[in-house]
Amino acid sequence: MITLGIETSCDETSCAVLKNTDKVLSNIISSSLFRHKPFGGVVPEIASRHCLEQIDTVFAEALREAKTKAEKIDLIAVTEGPGLIGSLLVGISFAKALSYRLKVPLIGVNHLEAHLSANFIGQKEPAHYIGLLVSGGHTMISYHKRGKIPVLMGSTVDDAAGEAYDKVAKLLGLGYPGGPVMDKLAQTGDPSAFRFTKPKQENRFGFSFSGIKTAVLYEVQKESAKKKAGEALSEKFIRDMAASFQYSVTQWLIEKTLDAAQYKKVKDVVVGGGVSANSRLRSHLVEEGRKRGILARFPDFKLTLDNAAMIARRGVELFRKGKRSSLSLTGIPNLKMGAK
Ligand code: KG4
Ligand code: ZN
Repeated sequence: MITLGIETSCDETSCAVLKNTDKVLSNIISSSLFRHKPFGGVVPEIASRHCLEQIDTVFAEALREAKTKAEKIDLIAVTEGPGLIGSLLVGISFAKALSYRLKVPLIGVNHLEAHLSANFIGQKEPAHYIGLLVSGGHTMISYHKRGKIPVLMGSTVDDAAGEAYDKVAKLLGLGYPGGPVMDKLAQTGDPSAFRFTKPKQENRFGFSFSGIKTAVLYEVQKESAKKKAGEALSEKFIRDMAASFQYSVTQWLIEKTLDAAQYKKVKDVVVGGGVSANSRLRSHLVEEGRKRGILARFPDFKLTLDNAAMIARRGVELFRKGKRSSLSLTGIPNLKMGAK
């Protein structure tokens, strides 16, 4: 079975061709990140315009690289939400037109669920597992049982983990996006240089990252006050802060995720989203999970960021469960995990 995946939920335009559930024949991604950098974050109008400009070329390139033709496509899976409405509608309109023209089924896919499904390309989905979704817009723990609708156990009450990385990077003058550069700097800093208090939460499986961001701001202000006007923060301060911030954020994510797995008595944890590329989260969740008999899985690095291969993989799962979307499919900007 050949599935075409289409992803246009934010600043990426992506088309992928997936054979069955295991062979990614192509996964083309055109990012508009460079256009947003001067603004320090994604500008919705620029993102949707980029999707519109790129979608035809990205689709053609995906077919070319997969050495296939549009007529060979059996199923079209497209991101339905959550995301920016302008961007979502570009992919959805394209998918609907193609589905009508080729007379093949169409499936709207939840982007959050798809991030976790990136782990199941070439792997069987475990019978039940805890999902940890960590991206620029979302941080949540969910419970998944095969054939059932996912259940949200907890999410962030304010900033997402990736958003906190991006905001702290901005405070340290590191540019956007902050995650990758902070992760790199953290590896040569002292993680015990600064201590951050773990936020108190009503929900045992919930998160909050705005407090740590403010704590970093105070430390930066204190450090800047010691310097002459206009003098930059020292490299040591930046490295130590990156390491301490990374230690706290990843440790909170790890502890709550493993706690959720033990609470639900499951042996598998599946991680997805941009922050799943983080080196400390990857190594320590695997290590600490192993000590408790829990297997933590992460997607391939190239599947951690937004991409259409994960949309195609989730589309196949839903197709097998009998899901189909009609041509009235539309974008749902605030679509929740397990909502459909
Ligand atoms: O999933 P994603 O591509 O987009 C959203 O759907 O939000 O995630 C992007 C986020 C950004 O906030 C970025 O800073 C973060 O993922 N990120 C990282 C790393 N690589 C990307 N955060 C921490 N460590 C990383 N290595
Ligand atoms: Zn995403």
